Amino acid sequence: MTEEINFEKISLDLVNQGYSIYKNFLPTAEAQQILAHSLQIYKQDNFQPAGIGKGDEWQRNQSIRGDEIYWIENPEKTAHVANFYAKIRALALFFNRDLFIGINYIEMHFAIYPAGKFYKKHFDSFKGSDKRKVSFVLYLNPDWQSDDGGELRIYTRDKQQVDVLPEMGTLVCFLSNEILHEVRAPKNRKRVSLTGWMRKDELKDVLVDFSR
Ligand code: OGA
Ligand code: MN
Repeated sequence: MTEEINFEKISLDLVNQGYSIYKNFLPTAEAQQILAHSLQIYKQDNFQPAGIGKGDEWQRNQSIRGDEIYWIENPEKTAHVANFYAKIRALALFFNRDLFIGINYIEMHFAIYPAGKFYKKHFDSFKGSDKRKVSFVLYLNPDWQSDDGGELRIYTRDKQQVDVLPEMGTLVCFLSNEILHEVRAPKNRKRVSLTGWMRKDELKDVLVDFSR
């Protein structure tokens, strides 16, 4: 019997504080399978350096961002990832009903930060300009200790800092245009996650009915 995920709590957290931290979003066994899948792709050299900026403005800039990523083209058809995608999609549909945010597309990639790499303070989208509404990160690191570094640092509405350890199975989500955050460098091991965005695309660009 798998435990129910409390969508209501995640949604309330988003409204009340702009972010939510949810431990054991996935059972360890499922997260382990996704981890193994991502490491297999990584070993086959299929990750690419992440960049900053869109389109013509894209650039690799390791003084800002040092992770490597792999876009998951068809999450709903990818072994091990499909089950997670189904949960994230259900969460997005819950947000649509609860918060009226009109999510109609989800994109996701694996991200690996080798030891010493980081992502400086940033927003995932900018007010008024981007399709990204809710960012989410599923962490895939068993037995992560605070000595290992690699925290997600969230800058809260009331100007505090909240650090999240990238512990296996934890899901963080936050409002993409509102929450400033950074990834601190992991110290002696690599840091693996599955990161994605719930988007509201223009209807002309939406190929399938997301709600079905
Ligand atoms: C990102 C990001 C956070 C994390 O990829 O934009 O901020 O904890 N990731 O990996
Ligand atoms: Mn980010």
